[in-house]
Order: sequence, then structure tokens, then C-alpha cells
Amino acid sequence: MGTGPGAITNDGCAVDFYALLPAFGEPEIVHAAVPAAASILELGCGTGRILRPLAALGHPVLGVDDSADMLARVPDLPVMASAIETLRLDRTFDVVLLASTMINSDPATRRAFLATVRHHLDGDGVAVFQQSPPEWFKASAEAGLVTRHACASKSSTRPPTTSGPMPGRHIRSPARNSPATWPRPASGSATG
Ligand SMILES: C[S@@+](CC[C@H](N)C(=O)[O-])C[C@H]1O[C@@H](n2cnc3c(N)ncnc32)[C@H](O)[C@@H]1O
Repeated sequence: MGTGPGAITNDGCAVDFYALLPAFGEPEIVHAAVPAAASILELGCGTGRILRPLAALGHPVLGVDDSADMLARVPDLPVMASAIETLRLDRTFDVVLLASTMINSDPATRRAFLATVRHHLDGDGVAVFQQSPPEWFKASAEAGLVTRHACASKSSTRPPTTSGPMPGRHIRSPARNSPATWPRPASGSATG
């Protein structure tokens, strides 16, 4: 589980840590991969680290998270409290975003997340996933960067927090059909 002062979410994220964490280029990558002004649903939006810049880039957004403590840090954006697995809104979106390491969850949880993504996508909508590939875990361990886990769900294989520059992480965009590497590494912190 995550450690540190302040609230810790069900999946082990330290809310204060996420409130301090900047975006590392993710909003710009998503923005470039989807149509202008596309509506975006982010599942597991946390403090709005990625969602807030996307709203500033002209996207109507909705954030969903099951942590009231996280959502309390997003008073400026439309958000709702819900478990991702059971979320079934009566509307769809141009884009559904599953960021951070949510896709690295265990297979059953991942399937439930993906069912929710599918349910909320327009027919020609775009699902955007951030992932930490297996090589990232391996390279981090070999580089001696692993110090502790930032978020450690009992059922997930979330990546480690690191104390130095991390190997590149990737976001895969169906719209562009090619991976884009984060423009700069996360130095001294992790988005896990
Ligand atoms: C690793 S944080 C990432 C937050 C944000 N996407 C970011 O990149 O800054 C994961 C977030 O997803 C939320 N979360 C994890 N599992 C969830 C679930 N099953 N249902 C709803 N929210 C969940 C946590 O409360 C946390 O805010």
C-alpha cells in the first residue's frame, strides 16, 4: 500500500502525493490523438492531474473515481464518485481514458475496467490507455530505481515509485495506431 501523510485511496494511492504530481506530457499526447473538442471520460481521474489540462485544451470532460479524497481535489471539473467496474452511465463519450497503470491491474479487474470503457464509448470513439510495459518494470529493477510502491492494490501489478529518472513509458493510441513515448521521463517521482 502507499505510505505518507494524508489520505490513502482504496488502491493505495497517496492523495497528497498525487495532488503535488504534475502531468508528464500525457494530456498533450491524448489531445493530439483524438479529435478537437472530443468529449473525454477519465476512469480513475484522481486529482485531475491529466483531466484538468485536457479540459483546458478544450475538451468537455467527466472524471470518475471511487476516492472522495481524490475528488475533493477536483472542485473545478465535473466529476462523480463511482467504482469503475459498476459505472454504467446513460451517455457515451468520444474518448474514454484509462491512465496511469490501471490497465496493469490483474486480469479480472482489467476485464471489468475494459467493459466499462466499452460501455461508455461512442461507436467510433477512441479508447486511450496508458501502460507500463513489462520491460519498464524490469529496467527499473535493474537500474536499482525501485524504492517502494506508490499505489499497491491487492489485485494489481502496479509499477514502483522510483527515486530517479525512469525508463520511457508508452501510451498507445488507436487513432494513430502507433506508440508515443512520453516526451520526458518522470524524474524523482512516479505516476504509478
Ligand atoms: C494511480 S491513480 C491515477 C490517478 C490519475 N489517473 C493520474 O494519472 O494522476 C489511480 C486512481 O484511480 C482510482 N481508482 C483505482 N481503482 C478504482 C476503481 N476500481 N474504481 C474507481 N476508481 C479507482 C484511485 O482512487 C486513484 O485516484
